[in-house]
Amino acid sequence: MKANPIQLPTTNGNLHKPPITSKHFILPTITLALLITIHLYLGNFSGLGLTGLATPVAKDVKCNLFQGSWVFDDERETYYTNETKCIIDDRQNCMKYGRPDTDFMKWRWKPDDCELPEFDAVEFLEAVRGKTLAFIGDSVGRNQMQSLVCMLASEANPIDVTKGGDTRFRRWNFPNYNFTLVAIWSPLLVKTRDPNIGNFTRNSLMNIYLDEPDEEWTSQIENLDIVIFSAGQWFFRPFMYYEKGEIVGCHFCNQENITDLTVYYAYQMAFRTTFTTLLNLHNFTGLAFLRTFSPQHFENGNYNDGGNCVRTRPFAKQEMRLDGFKLEMYSTQVNEFKAAKQEGEKKGVKLRLLDTSDAMIMRPDGHPNHYGHPASDNKSYPDCVHWCMPGPVDTWNEFLLEMLKMEEGEGFIKGAPQRNTTKLNLR
Ligand SMILES: *[C@@H]1O[C@H](CO)[C@@H](O)[C@H](O)[C@H]1NC(C)=O
Ligand SMILES: *[C@@H]1O[C@H](CO)[C@@H](O)[C@H](O)[C@H]1NC(C)=O
Ligand SMILES: *[C@@H]1O[C@H](CO)[C@@H](O)[C@H](O)[C@H]1NC(C)=O
Ligand SMILES: *[C@@H]1O[C@H](CO)[C@@H](O)[C@H](O)[C@H]1NC(C)=O
Ligand SMILES: *[C@@H]1O[C@H](CO)[C@@H](O)[C@H](O)[C@H]1NC(C)=O
Ligand SMILES: *[C@@H]1O[C@H](CO)[C@@H](O)[C@H](O)[C@H]1NC(C)=O
Ligand SMILES: *[C@@H]1O[C@H](CO)[C@@H](O)[C@H](O)[C@H]1NC(C)=O
Repeated sequence: MKANPIQLPTTNGNLHKPPITSKHFILPTITLALLITIHLYLGNFSGLGLTGLATPVAKDVKCNLFQGSWVFDDERETYYTNETKCIIDDRQNCMKYGRPDTDFMKWRWKPDDCELPEFDAVEFLEAVRGKTLAFIGDSVGRNQMQSLVCMLASEANPIDVTKGGDTRFRRWNFPNYNFTLVAIWSPLLVKTRDPNIGNFTRNSLMNIYLDEPDEEWTSQIENLDIVIFSAGQWFFRPFMYYEKGEIVGCHFCNQENITDLTVYYAYQMAFRTTFTTLLNLHNFTGLAFLRTFSPQHFENGNYNDGGNCVRTRPFAKQEMRLDGFKLEMYSTQVNEFKAAKQEGEKKGVKLRLLDTSDAMIMRPDGHPNHYGHPASDNKSYPDCVHWCMPGPVDTWNEFLLEMLKMEEGEGFIKGAPQRNTTKLNLR
């Protein structure tokens, strides 16, 4: 059965319980955004396309991987632990910081019409043999990248080949597979200038050039085969918006003569600029993913006035759906993606949607809350934005592998050697 993930979730007519909507959660405010921003800023950067149609066990049945629900699986083991030789950022290392419950690691994603196979590190590494894959975005993108490194650790230990020790632009090489994994720090994807760099304050107004792509990624794109773009929380901070070098508006700038154009405007323009740039680069012939908006789950208040995320189990499908500002962010970026994808098909640029938002809105239990922070941080600040490792963020890489496998027929990814399927079920 075919389904279109662009169809936004709607209320099912036959609900047993009323849906819990985002209205129960706290909207991001300046302060929240700034907490996250500072947090991110100081951090080390230590044929399918739109539809993501998978060919599951039965070859002729296509299904939307991203529509489904979370199923409890007590037998489920995590792909790695806090003892695995890989980098788990302290801020997402929930077990290290004493998170007492463990059920949140035992839910697997069950697409409605097929199975999402378990991640197989060898299969992944074979699929990307000889290639360079980059995560371009903020610390939530880094969260997925670190999860991927840990998920690959059972098969290969990467060598850190970061140039110049700048951990915001981390580079790993997996020698046996000649595979390179790169993190490119570009939280807004377009060019920015912080007039008060080094004096970063809650009220500092960042200049953002909505029609100019960030050189951090454009300068490297030609050497990349697979890129995963993402962006989100940074857009909530105060900004002066520029286009063609002129102020066109702002966000939270508190200046009477300047229009507040809203966060959605900038989000839309940033993705438009990103995709337009990508389509016009003559030497990018790779595969580009958009990993969709990652929802946060503060409840009962803001980060600094008692808000937190204490739930220990996922929502059922009927209990929670994307709505409010989260839905608005999601549809804004997906609309830009759709337009670019059509354009890309003409130009031979492959755009794919890693459509994780629906799955993640159901995972209020997946965040560090108080269990994750560098020692220097104020332990009273909860994090309901990033994702515990291990945890539901690992599912993003299960999706990624499935989507890479779908490219095999397209000639971009060479068919992986026949795998011993007995091994696939062990872990
Ligand atoms: C890993 O987590 C366990 C609790 O599950 C904890 O006792 C242990 O100290 C942690 N180890 C590391 C290296 O973080
Ligand atoms: C490794 O991959 C690069 C391209 O990413 C290629 O130029 C090089 O020849 C490959 N090396 C080996 C040993 O396969
Ligand atoms: C920070 O701001 C103060 C006062 O506005 C200024 O004197 C100082 O030079 C600034 N420091 C940096 C690194 O920009
Ligand atoms: C807005 O007004 C302030 C002073 O009131 C002025 O400095 C600034 O240049 C004005 N900005 C624009 C875009 O007109
Ligand atoms: C990319 O393509 C442009 C022209 O299409 C060329 O001038 C440039 O040298 C290429 N860059 C690389 C790194 O190949
Ligand atoms: C940590 O947060 C608490 C509660 O918000 C506050 O009372 C305390 O002063 C903060 N401590 C530091 C070191 O910032
Ligand atoms: C597949 O793997 C299993 C378990 O590792 C092993 O027992 C079996 O012999 C393997 N089969 C083949 C055909 O290699």
